[in-house]
Amino acid sequence: MFNLFKTKPKKTTLPFLVDIHSHLLPGLDDGVKSASESMNILRSLEKIGYKKIITTPHIMSEYYPNKPSEIHEKLNEMRNLIQQNNLDITLDAAAEYYLDESLMAKLASQESLLTFGKNYLLFETSFLNKPAYLEDAIFNMHTNGYQPVLAHPERYDYLQGNQSLIEKLKDMNVLFQLNMLSLSGYYSEAVKKMARYLLKEDVIDLIGTDCHNLHQADVIGKSLNTRGMRLLEGKEFLNATLL
Ligand SMILES: [Fe+2]
Repeated sequence: MFNLFKTKPKKTTLPFLVDIHSHLLPGLDDGVKSASESMNILRSLEKIGYKKIITTPHIMSEYYPNKPSEIHEKLNEMRNLIQQNNLDITLDAAAEYYLDESLMAKLASQESLLTFGKNYLLFETSFLNKPAYLEDAIFNMHTNGYQPVLAHPERYDYLQGNQSLIEKLKDMNVLFQLNMLSLSGYYSEAVKKMARYLLKEDVIDLIGTDCHNLHQADVIGKSLNTRGMRLLEGKEFLNATLL
């Protein structure tokens, strides 16, 4: 007899249990606005299969001058709520540093920066132009004992099709973190194409949701079974070392 189950598409499960990039501490940046919104997202991520979330509020001197103490205070509030609501998910926090003069000054003065894993320092740059001091910043990060992690390399205009700069950054021992949403074309076709290219080139080290709101968490959940997300299958990422 014809077996209906054989016709079911293969279900893609989350290829890792740890997320390392999101904006889930309320009121600190352009991410979640309230604790209840954050709880809804955490529930949604738990349902998808995540066990641990290392959330990374923006630190950007002009718009989000968050201090580590403020981040830790919010982290503790959310941890209490997670416990009260019996969620089976661990919450931790680091930061996503915007590369500007302020970050350069912090590196120069050897200020202690928020990291995760093996001193991984998540940083982003302007989307349009390559910062003049990008290489200096990377050098200073290494000198201060940090492992630089470039957030969403697929989203920067100046990296699109710039093979020599991609190679230069990898030669300078910069880890690359891809956004899951890029694979499904959430941002743009060009970003999707670049995301697929970087995966194919095997230069992606970490995967992140970069989740800012419940809508994005829903999109990630729904896109798990898509062709784009299947490109993550069978590959190894450092997320697996962070549980
Ligand atoms: Fe981000």
